Amino acid sequence: MTAFQRPNKHDPSTMAFSSQAVHAGNAIDAGSGAIRTPIVMANSYALPEDASTISWSGTDVPLYTRNSGTNQQGLQAKLAALEHGDDAVVLASGVAALHGVFFTVLRSGDHVVVGDVTYEAIYRLFAELLPEKYGITATFVDSSDPDAVRAALRPETALVHVEVIGNPTTKVTDIGAIAAVAHDAGALLSVDSTFTPPPLFRPLEHGADLVVHSLTKYINGHGDAMGGAVIGRRDLIQRIKSDAMVDVGGVISPFNAWLIMRGSVTLPLRLAQHQASAQRIAEFLQADPRIAFVAYPGLAEHPQHDVALRLFEGRGFGGMMAFAVSGDAATQDRFVANLRVVTSAVSLGHDESLIVHVAGGADARPRVAFYPEEFRTWGHLRFSVGLEDPDDIIADLSAALDATWD
Ligand SMILES: Cc1ncc(COP(=O)(O)O)c(C=O)c1O
Repeated sequence: MTAFQRPNKHDPSTMAFSSQAVHAGNAIDAGSGAIRTPIVMANSYALPEDASTISWSGTDVPLYTRNSGTNQQGLQAKLAALEHGDDAVVLASGVAALHGVFFTVLRSGDHVVVGDVTYEAIYRLFAELLPEKYGITATFVDSSDPDAVRAALRPETALVHVEVIGNPTTKVTDIGAIAAVAHDAGALLSVDSTFTPPPLFRPLEHGADLVVHSLTKYINGHGDAMGGAVIGRRDLIQRIKSDAMVDVGGVISPFNAWLIMRGSVTLPLRLAQHQASAQRIAEFLQADPRIAFVAYPGLAEHPQHDVALRLFEGRGFGGMMAFAVSGDAATQDRFVANLRVVTSAVSLGHDESLIVHVAGGADARPRVAFYPEEFRTWGHLRFSVGLEDPDDIIADLSAALDATWD
């Protein structure tokens, strides 16, 4: 031991969520004594004198950053702890993580049942890329209806993939019910929980086999790094590491892993604020006659409000909503242009409030056919409620509404 070395006295496995968000995956650096794991940018690690037993595709010993880097290992340990999973793999983006799941668990001829409301890239992967390139077929179904999911299953269905709160309509899926349906048919269930990070919801505790996050969103929370993660059973995660990480190579940069590690420390505090503000703002919007519709699972009128109450057990309803002002696409654009606190930009789960106008009707992309009627009639504004003072956000929305009809 050098003068700097001290034992790491924290045992995050016995700690509550907010303590784990601080301590899990972090270690006192043996070389310097630094109490936060430093950024290790080296892409290669010293080999032992006898390297004959090293597996060049291995992912558990420091070898090469595409196999196992210091910063990605720490982040993996933290995410496994926060999601109550055996193990985790982190990759370069949320989409790399999703693709890592599909590439690893599916083979030619397999069939997948996919929720009809998911992130855009998932729609394109299953509607175009995976069928064309690998002969993997998919059926898109209303995942809020377990009977519809059951009816879509085939003998060759290998996977069911859904989002807990769907992007962008906020459709809520009862993960426990879908896990039972998938497992009855011998299929795996993967769940994108990007809109519902822990402690709000943990899909693995409801029977999911794999949970996926875009770390770019709430878990990092500051809009300054991209990353993705898959958490779940050790055997499945190990396969994703060796197939999708080592041999396809969508590895996260050590710097981004370090930024996400830092951002995730405040996840519980940020999420509480996102949710409290979102509930107030959804209620404010719903009360304004110039608003055409508001979709937020925390509103009693939301079609799956009761499911959300049961799944989230009073821990909140997330920070994402969709709404439209009464008017055509130009009116939605005018409203957005009048905002001064809320920024018009894609992405979500950042510290700043972000809004994006997605047209419905004739301008719509194919997957819009699956959206509820109000989304197709008015288009929608996808709104990620940020950490600004909720009074400032409400005043901004209110002033922009006034200016839109001036
Ligand atoms: C629900 C959901 N999953 C996955 C992704 C993709 O994540 P990334 O942009 O980090 O690739 C997004 C991006 O918006 C998303 O909203």
